[in-house]
Amino acid sequence: MAVQSETRNGLVFAVNGERFELSSVDPSTTVLEFLRSQTRFKSVKLGCGEGGCGACVVLLSMYDPVLDQVEDFTASSCLTLLCSVNGCSITTSEGLGNSKDGFHPIHQRFTGFHASQCGFCTPGMCVSLFGALVNAEKTNRLEPSPGFSKLTVSEAEKAISGNLCRCTGYRSIADACKSFAADADIEDLGLNSFWRNGDSKEVKINRLPFYNRNKEISTFPEFLKKEIRSSMLLDSKRFIWYNPVSVKDLQSLLESIEADNGSLIKLVSGNTGMGYYKELYRYDRYIDIRHIPELSSIRKEPTGIEIGATVTISKAIEALKKENKCEVHSKGEMVFEKIANHMEKIASGFVRNTASVGGNLVMAQRRHFPSDIATVLLAVGSMVDLMNGPRREKIMLEEFLERPPLDSKTVLLSVKIPNWESIKNISCETNTMLLFETYRAAPRPLGNALPYLNAAFLAELSRCKPSDEIIINNCQLAFGAYGAKHAIRAKKLEEFLAGKILSVGVLYEAIKLVRATVIPEDGTSSPAYRSSLAIGFLFDFFSPLIDNRGEISNGLLDGYMSNILVKDSKINHNYVQLDHNKTQTLLSSAKQVLGLSTEYHPVGEAIYVDDIPSPANCLYGSFICSTEPLARVRGVKFQPKPYPDGLAAVITYKDIPTGGENIGSKTIFGTEPLFAGELTECAGQRLAFVVADTQKHADMAIKFAVVDYDMENLEPPILSVEEAVERSSLFEVPSFIYPKQVGDILEGMAEADLKIVSAEIKLGSQYYFYMETQTALAVPDEDNCMVVYSSSQVPEWTHIVIARCLGIPHHNVRVITRRVGGGFGGKSVKAMPVATACALAAHKLRRPVRIYLDRKTDMIMAGGRHPMKITYSVGFKSNGKITALQLDILIDAGLSADISPVMPHNVLGALKKYDWGALSFDIKVCKTNHTSKSAMRAPGEVQGSFIAEAVIEHVASVLSMEVDSVRSINLHTYNSLNLFYEGGADEPFEYTLPSIWDSLATSSSLCLRTEMVKEFNSDNKWRKRGISRIPIVHEVMLRPTPGKVSILNDGSIVVEVGGIELGQGLWTKVKQMAAFALSSIKCDGAGDLLDKVRVIQSDTLSLIQGGFTAGSTTSESSCEAVRLCCNILVERLRPLRERLQEQMDSIQWEMLIDQAHLQVVNLSASSYFVPDLTSMRYLNYGAAVSEVEVNLLTGETTILQTDIIYDCGMSLNPAVDLGQIEGAFVQGIGFFMLEEYLTNSNGLVVVEGTWTYKIPTLDTIPKQFNVQVLNSGHHQKRVLSSKASGEPPLLLAASVHCATRAAIKEARKQLLSWSSQDESTTNSTTFQLEVPATMPVVKELCGLESVERYLEWSMGTK
Ligand SMILES: Cc1cc2nc3c(=O)[nH]c(=O)nc-3n(C[C@H](O)[C@H](O)[C@H](O)COP(=O)(O)OP(=O)(O)OC[C@H]3O[C@@H](n4cnc5c(N)ncnc54)[C@H](O)[C@@H]3O)c2cc1C
Ligand code: FES
Ligand code: FES
Repeated sequence: MAVQSETRNGLVFAVNGERFELSSVDPSTTVLEFLRSQTRFKSVKLGCGEGGCGACVVLLSMYDPVLDQVEDFTASSCLTLLCSVNGCSITTSEGLGNSKDGFHPIHQRFTGFHASQCGFCTPGMCVSLFGALVNAEKTNRLEPSPGFSKLTVSEAEKAISGNLCRCTGYRSIADACKSFAADADIEDLGLNSFWRNGDSKEVKINRLPFYNRNKEISTFPEFLKKEIRSSMLLDSKRFIWYNPVSVKDLQSLLESIEADNGSLIKLVSGNTGMGYYKELYRYDRYIDIRHIPELSSIRKEPTGIEIGATVTISKAIEALKKENKCEVHSKGEMVFEKIANHMEKIASGFVRNTASVGGNLVMAQRRHFPSDIATVLLAVGSMVDLMNGPRREKIMLEEFLERPPLDSKTVLLSVKIPNWESIKNISCETNTMLLFETYRAAPRPLGNALPYLNAAFLAELSRCKPSDEIIINNCQLAFGAYGAKHAIRAKKLEEFLAGKILSVGVLYEAIKLVRATVIPEDGTSSPAYRSSLAIGFLFDFFSPLIDNRGEISNGLLDGYMSNILVKDSKINHNYVQLDHNKTQTLLSSAKQVLGLSTEYHPVGEAIYVDDIPSPANCLYGSFICSTEPLARVRGVKFQPKPYPDGLAAVITYKDIPTGGENIGSKTIFGTEPLFAGELTECAGQRLAFVVADTQKHADMAIKFAVVDYDMENLEPPILSVEEAVERSSLFEVPSFIYPKQVGDILEGMAEADLKIVSAEIKLGSQYYFYMETQTALAVPDEDNCMVVYSSSQVPEWTHIVIARCLGIPHHNVRVITRRVGGGFGGKSVKAMPVATACALAAHKLRRPVRIYLDRKTDMIMAGGRHPMKITYSVGFKSNGKITALQLDILIDAGLSADISPVMPHNVLGALKKYDWGALSFDIKVCKTNHTSKSAMRAPGEVQGSFIAEAVIEHVASVLSMEVDSVRSINLHTYNSLNLFYEGGADEPFEYTLPSIWDSLATSSSLCLRTEMVKEFNSDNKWRKRGISRIPIVHEVMLRPTPGKVSILNDGSIVVEVGGIELGQGLWTKVKQMAAFALSSIKCDGAGDLLDKVRVIQSDTLSLIQGGFTAGSTTSESSCEAVRLCCNILVERLRPLRERLQEQMDSIQWEMLIDQAHLQVVNLSASSYFVPDLTSMRYLNYGAAVSEVEVNLLTGETTILQTDIIYDCGMSLNPAVDLGQIEGAFVQGIGFFMLEEYLTNSNGLVVVEGTWTYKIPTLDTIPKQFNVQVLNSGHHQKRVLSSKASGEPPLLLAASVHCATRAAIKEARKQLLSWSSQDESTTNSTTFQLEVPATMPVVKELCGLESVERYLEWSMGTK
């Protein structure tokens, strides 16, 4: 909509150099909404809508006509309001380059480094990097070498540290970004398609797509500069958007509004607060306060720095750091620098660039936001300047925070941070010094995560002569974000400490006061943990100053001090041991791999369902879900408005047409209804589908829905597996998939020297967190047909469900899936009801209906991984050999069967990786009143593999043996493997695990590092390390898959396969296979067919029986189906080629095909690959070593290094497989260490998005990540000898969990030594470590009172 209207005072801006002028717009419209719905620039994606994922990042550029300067910064377009970009230029990934005008080197390098899988996050990543590049180029740093930029490696990493990717595991993305950095070590970059191992440095640099910094695109078009030089005023009335330019203007504007009673006004600065509060209503007036100089400037005075309220956090950081540079060597200046360092951990770069300091403080004051800025500025005695009508007042920040919430007309003008140097007489001469430090404990160290607690301490100290002891003259100690209304100063503590000589005793008393002060309010999660953090931080601050400094300072301050954390954060995780030269692949040349890759992913030209333009008359849906687990639904109303804006219809089960069924999904085990009937049976169940004129209106409408429930005379719901068993609420598991017991358990137990009886483990769920939420578009077609575009892993079954729901013949439905923005199992069964609801609404309303689920609803409906409770008894010899394992497993399947009956098989399949002697089990699949759980990457296998490790760990701790020895002793021999897998072990040489196990020990220097870990642990009190090696055996199964290959007139080739491209590289492998298999025709040019192959979208009427894309093997079976088609085509073409060859020396591919068309050869072939019963199952092997470091004061676990060896058979494409291995492993880190998919007591999911659900980011992956893809050689029966890589490596992430357990064990031993108890009488080393092992969990096991115990011990030993 590039409107060139005559309108004056309209909203004018540029997108990728194109001019846009709007004469009016709803002021609550965000840049993202506008770009996605009204322009062709679809690269900006909606991943969260709350500033937490980076999928929507754009580059905003502002022009200053006075200085003739352009300011460029990244911003989250989902939070930036459109009216606030008046006069700005927006650059999206398409603006950097595209398939028509040529790609940008950022795109090319992302492609070449294989840094894009599903591609959904990639455009946002590219723009984040571009923003950093553009700004680095503006610095006066030295000229970099040709092809590089002025960016540093650290900046490159930070640029993307706030962007989420659920597919790649980040290593490849970091490499692509670092390849631009002037200080990049090119040898340090991992596998890519540009160079081969052994190439010289020069060759490598030359092969990188060239980055020409002198020819970088202009971010601000000239025409807009000219317009800005005249006038760019918005017509306030038309836009109800006001831009006061002075405090006076603002005052009179607020006064005039006051007269206009009841008007809802919103002061807008960066509008990022919306990411947290998700305000639903539209205000009557918006006042943009960023253009008032007094609010937007930073004033440096001798007494301190005054920061205007609208100054962005990024600008404040810059100013505070600059301040420091001017006054190097003074003590007071450190205060500014440390404040800046702390601020760098707030949110992410693209949020900080627009988020204001004032907005943050107002959120903290008015709405109790757990602010970092409030805490840090409180400690240094900051003051705020307020304006209310004509009244202005300057008050201390402390008083500001304590006041009742500000009314909407009070304006925060500025905040002043005092210069401590000028206030205090601090110098060597006066023998006083200033100590300042800030702290925060958050799940992700580099930010983009709210802290559990933050703190900032300022102390003025002097040294007593001659004793040299340290006296605290006075101090200011602030704590915040721990579940109190606002940050506080710990006054009693400050008073207690003032004038005291620092000693262990004083610190001990001080800590008691902290415990009495930092008390989270009721309802705050992990309250005891938060209090213990406060203690840990205070201890960390003061203890190095106590006389026994030698001991205490022993690494103590490292890493806890915020500035050191940042310095430490250089992420070095890039030793991919993958050798192109040794790797035999179908197509191993660098050019070919590059040629295969989809460069339009990084650009953002790849079309996902929500990128398809809406057809005319399209409506949008949103689900109302139940909040009760078991209740009659009397009705649904909307309040306060009975008819929310834009509402078109509310669809329920009553709207299912005659002849149709209330069916939302199906598997071979049963169906699930689309909507609850009169009875809702779980919280999260779909009650109704609200349809409105826009997605925003539909999403808003559901928030106003009020459901009338009636629980009278209903049985209580079943909300635990124990209740399910008690009430015999179980799903049947068909006997053919129920696993078989091994050996005689009684005999096995009798053989044992020792037994552990009835130990328990509980495992929770995990959410998919695909970046693209569930989405579908249904378009009614002629003759009662329905075309549905669905982001689905199983279009075939989605098709069946839609037809059954609508009661129409199957040939009246067509489901089209081009690509899926991440699936991980969540878009198999769970995508079906989403598509079906759209189809039902479209059918009823005879209009197209689409949906793009908001993250919260997606999380509520998803179900996710199966929680389970495991009770085990194990018998073992005193040398660690296990003789018998007995398991009782209760699996929570939720409301419907879904795929849950396969869970026993999957759990046991992975658990059998060890030789348990005898194995006996009872596994129940429980039907509960929870949302039905579904397949999630390695469903059951990840739990099974973990259970095995938990048992091994337990046995080792009872025997006080090295866990690694217990693992080694229980690894299978070939014979025991064959016994446990019922003859599925293939040939002896194919059992590669023992050799992987040994090679990994060597390649990871396991023995040496184990010794080093021991040494580290004895040298360090507050940091402990652990190292752990684990094996995996993972069974996969091939499924029947169709394929179709057609050769068109010009020789180009079209391929259709049953498998769906989810980011797992299926299309890449399929393309390779088609080119490879057709090349056997052996004519000129047939060896280079890759560029001629196009894989097209899945269409359920064009290619039937597509089946599930799941279980890691779809790429293989799709490839095999394609190979069969190609063989048919080659057979058909061969006689013609032979005839032609008799006539001429050389036959070109194009000519052969042209002749084939003329001679009516059938050039389209279909196949249905049905795997041979004898080879449809096979075992995958791998092993990993992980080393972690646990911070005993915070419970934070840092993964120092992971080494993996994984057997890919003969990899079809090592780059794709490597990406799968790394991505799966990192998703496993999420499961084991970070992700808590929490529900309330009704079973309703309460985590709503990126604020509370923390998937790994760049800063939580292994700092060094070495992956070796083992090419184990030829396997007769498998598709080109390859092995699956999609799921099994996820299981290897348990190594991180086990290493954490090892580190905790050390912490507990130490704690015990401080308590002077005998280890043998306590259970310090035998404990269960929960999954996920989050910071509170780890800290609790390390001792919430470890600091007190240590101090008591110290005092006692003196
Ligand atoms: C993803 C994400 C992560 C975050 N993580 C953290 C974190 O870890 N730690 C942390 O401390 N913060 C964090 N924040 C909060 C962030 O710092 C604030 O959202 C931001 O600073 C608010 O500034 P803004 O300019 O966007 O305010 P806006 O959103 O424009 O305004 C916020 C509120 O304050 C009002 N307001 C704004 N300015 C004034 C003023 N001068 N006078 C009176 N009222 C005013 C507005 O009307 C609105 O009600 C995070 C935010 C996001 C989106
Ligand atoms: S969609 Fe904007 S940050 Fe996630
Ligand atoms: S490639 Fe990053 S989310 Fe899929």
